[in-house]
Amino acid sequence: MIPARSSFPPGFLFGAATSAYQIEGAGFGGAGVSHWDSFAATPGNTAGAQDGSRACEHVLRWEEDLDLLAGAGLDAYRFSTSWARVMPDGVTVNPEGLDFYDRLVDGMLSRGLKPFLTFYHWDMPSALAMRGGWQNREIVDHFAGFCRVVHGRIGDRIEAAATLNEPWCISWLSHFLGIHAPGLCDIRATGHAMHHVMLAHGTAVAALRADGMRDNLGLVLNFETAHPADDRPESVAAAARQDAIYNRWFVQAAMGQGYPALAMEGLEPHLPPRWQDDLAMIAQPLDWLGVNYYTRKLHTFDPGPWPQTAEVPGPLPKTQIGWEIRPEGLAEFLLRLKREHTGDLPLYVTENGLALADEAEDQGRIDYLAGHLQAARQAIAEGVDLRGFFYWSLLDNYEWSLGYGPRFGLIHVDYQTMRRMPKASWHALRAALRG
Ligand code: FCB
Repeated sequence: MIPARSSFPPGFLFGAATSAYQIEGAGFGGAGVSHWDSFAATPGNTAGAQDGSRACEHVLRWEEDLDLLAGAGLDAYRFSTSWARVMPDGVTVNPEGLDFYDRLVDGMLSRGLKPFLTFYHWDMPSALAMRGGWQNREIVDHFAGFCRVVHGRIGDRIEAAATLNEPWCISWLSHFLGIHAPGLCDIRATGHAMHHVMLAHGTAVAALRADGMRDNLGLVLNFETAHPADDRPESVAAAARQDAIYNRWFVQAAMGQGYPALAMEGLEPHLPPRWQDDLAMIAQPLDWLGVNYYTRKLHTFDPGPWPQTAEVPGPLPKTQIGWEIRPEGLAEFLLRLKREHTGDLPLYVTENGLALADEAEDQGRIDYLAGHLQAARQAIAEGVDLRGFFYWSLLDNYEWSLGYGPRFGLIHVDYQTMRRMPKASWHALRAALRG
């Protein structure tokens, strides 16, 4: 059973999350081409070459979507602004794009929903991607400029903002593993992206502070438990390298703890020149940190170039896309963050959820939510200042390179008719929140 609202501290926020490219429909409203459009248009990159041009048509149907959020008894909505919609060429403002987010934020407020903005959830304008995107230091000032434009328009009405969603995905998944746009498999591109993405975060924070954003400014990072596949020392070492790259690099840099040695072993030669000079700018004081947590993976030694790690399938129950379900990992990360990195900084769970095959009676989702909310309660009981929990996702949507097959939503979307239908989990959550 999903724990009742009353079993959380007063003021604890419950919300649901989405991102622009995954739901809006990039083909509407004068959005520019983004690197996700061209990545998806290239054979082999996304399931069925599916893209976000239509997605859930949220740009046309946002009022209904906000009604469904409010109808579930949720308090907050985590959404993102599409850079390519706001600035189709990366620098020139598209008034229609800003108008859309203006209306959306007013729509949240009129329904009593607190807007949690993420400036960037991956839809980089192609004009900037073509200049090297995250590999090119130029992106840092472009990104800060984009954040300032968005903040200038809707900053007076948002509850909280994060600069970036999941720098690990922006850099490693997209430049080393080649799974997300721009689809590179190049360690030097990765080293540059991993540094520039953090410098862009810090530079944007400084710019937003200068523009008057005094509080509720943060960053959203993803964490994934990295366990050794067996107890051989080389597997243990492989898991530790994976942990450094995935779970330590970004949070350490943001918290002023420098880059982790186990990741620097392989990445230092590929960082941009004079990277050390940027560490202070990266480590801007923040008001909160967002934690995205889904799963754990098992790692083993892989002969070959650094980082010499390979994933092996684990034994736990899995979601539609093969991710192991392990709720205790959420409590472990929240406690570890407090202990080792974030201290008393308020935390939010900004994403947690699972994909299930198309079904309206999604008991598996209710169980997943119950397990992870229980883990969140445990972390709170052990002293973590956790302020809220956002389910990923409000709606079934475009799951990046996996296309429209994986369904993460509390609400079913029929991609032919665009009809929305709340699943059993939406009803169960509503019951838990309303008491
Ligand atoms: C996260 C992303 C989100 C979604 C979920 C399943 O890594 O932030 O956009 O794809 O995974």
